[in-house]
Amino acid sequence: MATSSSPLPFLLIMMSLLIISCWVLATSASNFYQDFDISWGDGRAKILNNGDLLTLSLDKPSGSGFQSKNEYLFGKIDVQLKLVPGNSAGTVTAYYLSSQGPTHDEIDFEFLGNLSGDPYILHTNVFGQGKGNREQQFYLWFDPTANFHTYSVLWNPKHIIFSVDGTPIREFKNLESIGVRYPKDQPMRIYSSLWNADDWATRGGLVKTDWTQAPFTASYRNFNANACIWSSGASSCSSSSNNSNAWLAEELDSTSQQKLKWVRNNYMIYNYCTDSKRFPQGLPPECVA
Ligand SMILES: *[C@@H]1O[C@H](CO)[C@@H](O)[C@H](O)[C@H]1NC(C)=O
Ligand SMILES: *[C@@H]1O[C@H](CO)[C@@H](O)[C@H](O)[C@H]1NC(C)=O
Repeated sequence: MATSSSPLPFLLIMMSLLIISCWVLATSASNFYQDFDISWGDGRAKILNNGDLLTLSLDKPSGSGFQSKNEYLFGKIDVQLKLVPGNSAGTVTAYYLSSQGPTHDEIDFEFLGNLSGDPYILHTNVFGQGKGNREQQFYLWFDPTANFHTYSVLWNPKHIIFSVDGTPIREFKNLESIGVRYPKDQPMRIYSSLWNADDWATRGGLVKTDWTQAPFTASYRNFNANACIWSSGASSCSSSSNNSNAWLAEELDSTSQQKLKWVRNNYMIYNYCTDSKRFPQGLPPECVA
């Protein structure tokens, strides 16, 4: 039939083009080849499935790691992570943002492994101009080795919010007004590594890595950075006419504050702010603010 004036084939073509372009956008948003370099580990870190998946592994001779190609100055950054399963005692999977040098800034997630069936610890810390000592530790409300879960950092000029599957677990506010160092002037790269830390990681170093279980493997997917990229001294967000960066002003709403409270009440196992033995001259100012 010569009814080529029918709009149906045209619509079908347009729809498939749309679907194809959405697919391209979605995959390019999480392509490890595009966003990261393998930085160490002599072949133990691998980018697989056309860039959709990254795996790190650790055996007795070495761990492995990767780092972002970009430096960022503020961002809302997500990644999905499936941790070392089984007996992961002694291993640490670190995922963090950091700048360079002795007065560096840093925002840390570290996952401390454990014996099969015993809980991982999620260790967090924030460094401002070289000064850390702001650890908070948590158990998770799920087994982080069974499936991928999303670990996020929202870092803007006013807040740093650590989240797990969209549930905030920690907020670090900008309290420069009362003398607390806050990371806001140094662009940071994203780093991740899997390494042996059996001198301290599991039950304070009591449980050692069982090398008969090696290699240990952690997997990453769906990296997404809604972030200001820093390059040659300028930020991709510096254009004041840019309204697409709502996260730059984002803060916890009341529902999120309730969730944060739930995590703190039920899953927080260490908080530097309540460790007065460690700060005999008085707790840091943000703890009493
Ligand atoms: C490992 O399991 C033990 C026993 O349940 C627990 O005390 C400890 O906090 C867990 N995590 C780590 C990293 O040690
Ligand atoms: C606006 O922000 C988006 C998201 O960060 C970025 O991709 C885009 O390049 C920015 N546009 C301008 C004009 O800076």
